[in-house]
Amino acid sequence: MVQKRIFNLVAAIDQNHGIGKNNDIPWEIPEDMKYFNTLTKLGLKVPDYPQSNSITKPSMNVCIMGRKTWISIPERVRPLKDRFNIVISSKTDFIDFENPKNKYVKTVPSIQEALNLVDTINNSENGIHINSIFVVGGQRIYEEAINHAHVRIFITHIQNPNSHECTVFFPKFLHIENLKKMDFDHLASLLPFKIDPGVLISKTNYKYEFTLYQNF
Ligand SMILES: NC(=O)c1ccc[n+]([C@@H]2O[C@H](COP(=O)([O-])OP(=O)(O)OC[C@H]3O[C@@H](n4cnc5c(N)ncnc54)[C@H](OP(=O)(O)O)[C@@H]3O)[C@@H](O)[C@H]2O)c1
Repeated sequence: MVQKRIFNLVAAIDQNHGIGKNNDIPWEIPEDMKYFNTLTKLGLKVPDYPQSNSITKPSMNVCIMGRKTWISIPERVRPLKDRFNIVISSKTDFIDFENPKNKYVKTVPSIQEALNLVDTINNSENGIHINSIFVVGGQRIYEEAINHAHVRIFITHIQNPNSHECTVFFPKFLHIENLKKMDFDHLASLLPFKIDPGVLISKTNYKYEFTLYQNF
């Protein structure tokens, strides 16, 4: 059976679709950071690439990101732990591959190469199995990945009306053919952990809402 390759885009966006400024995120919402980490670590209740019953390799999810997003992650939490990190770049010299902490980090020059790498990992008998693919930014990577045939878009909408003066943006996506905003119950049913519905208030006073859009 040919498996559907699904990209799960994950982003927190403000009311202008802003996602970042000065290679950083211009808001602090610890509850959303926790959501991002739990979602990308634990993945989905039913993985997009289920492992066949005959093979049981240790499994994890992949996070695909652009070089600038990689650099924007504080060094103490980089690479993203318990996830396979694939960094898209024309360069390779910005990561110390000799350092054992980077065992599950690879650089590739394109998203297509990232997909090929996931296939290679999953087809090898040793090593690990990739359950699902999360695309975690930034702007260029989202712009390319959003046109993939099968996408889920996990958006945290930040509701505060003040401008964050972002310089990088998430693409406008509502025009995508067949893309639907899913109801909260559908989002909750995909996740192996609990989240709250509706507009929530962070302990840092930001208003935010977890949502899901999907085109299949
Ligand atoms: N709010 C959120 O949820 C969120 C999530 C992630 C990131 N961010 C923010 O987004 C900003 C970083 O995003 P960004 O858009 O500036 O950069 P980015 O997409 O993370 O990285 C851009 C770099 O990635 C490589 N690249 C990207 N697309 C490529 C492609 N299709 N083919 C080949 N190489 C490609 C290139 O690297 P080379 O130049 O090395 O070739 C390019 O310079 C930061 O402010 C970060 O904090 C926000």
